[in-house]
Amino acid sequence: MTLLERMGLSALHRIDPESAHGLAIRALQMGLTPCPGPISTPRLATTLARLTLPNPVGLAAGFDKNASAIMPLSRAGFGFIEVGAATPLPQPGNPKPRLFRLTQDRAVINRFGFNNEGADAIVARLARRGSGIPVGLNLGANKTSTDRAADFARVMEAARRHVDFATVNVSSPNTEKLRDLQGKAALTGLLDGVMAVRGETPVFLKIAPDLTPGEIEDIAEVAETTGVAAIIATNTTLDRQGLQSAHRDQAGGLSGAPLFGKSTRVLAQLSSLTDIPLIGVGGIGSAKDAYAKICAGASAVQLYTALVYGGLSLIAEIANGLDRLLAQDGFETVADAVGSKREDWL
Ligand code: FNR
Repeated sequence: MTLLERMGLSALHRIDPESAHGLAIRALQMGLTPCPGPISTPRLATTLARLTLPNPVGLAAGFDKNASAIMPLSRAGFGFIEVGAATPLPQPGNPKPRLFRLTQDRAVINRFGFNNEGADAIVARLARRGSGIPVGLNLGANKTSTDRAADFARVMEAARRHVDFATVNVSSPNTEKLRDLQGKAALTGLLDGVMAVRGETPVFLKIAPDLTPGEIEDIAEVAETTGVAAIIATNTTLDRQGLQSAHRDQAGGLSGAPLFGKSTRVLAQLSSLTDIPLIGVGGIGSAKDAYAKICAGASAVQLYTALVYGGLSLIAEIANGLDRLLAQDGFETVADAVGSKREDWL
């Protein structure tokens, strides 16, 4: 981390987390953040569900909810980015405060509840973006919707010509009953509806970490029968085990370091059940963590919370460190390492 970035982060951590996040987005828009461009080496370059990635380190959904900093984020070193969640209609989300730093735990709790400017505004920004690394949209449903499955299809249809992938997110804990859509029958209906309007766009599915092995088996089966192109494991957790920070009992989804083990176990289990490519998310804060997810079965990874503590220069650190770790173990490509240590997590 540069001195300037360290000073910027320490200033941001003195104000409330949501305002700090808004300022971070402004800094990106103003070109004040690191922009090494997409990092790539022959070892890091990879493919995921027909997408060509310069490296396998992606930005997780929720950081750029309104797609307002796509171009600067595309130059921050990531191999791909996911924006959103977008719901059909704009909505304010839950009352503030709704984002809490758990600094001692290198974690965050959020209960945003899909605050966003709505699919029309977000898709318009996606349509205007320049070319670059693959960009996907996280799809969500409006809180007051009477047909949530139809909401996902609506956003999919609006976005399909302007995104490289779209993610069905039925795993956010902050919209009441949303995660019930992970059940077999509901999920099949929802995915069939999205598939019917996706055109050529690959559809990804993002799941929660708080699922039983039986539920994970059902999801893998539904993903295969409906034609899901990749599964993202995982979203935030409701689990609060082992936390030290004052805010540990806040309601919402927990992300960051404490989520690493749980989300990696779900990833490894999925990897033993299906050949669908997997994206490992949850608690990645170093190259070692990213490498562990790949060895547990991930073809690519995403992160968010570690950026709150490590800044955007972490991306280059992780991508370059991953290249070194792969080389040390004799892997010529990312793909060669995928699942090589899955058994350690089962
Ligand atoms: C998220 N996450 C998230 N996920 C999603 O699918 N749609 C969303 O809108 C959001 N919003 C969101 C907001 C905030 C403030 C956070 C911290 C997280 C979840 C995120 O994409 C990721 O799955 C988890 O945070 C776990 O990864 P990290 O943060 O531990 O790297």
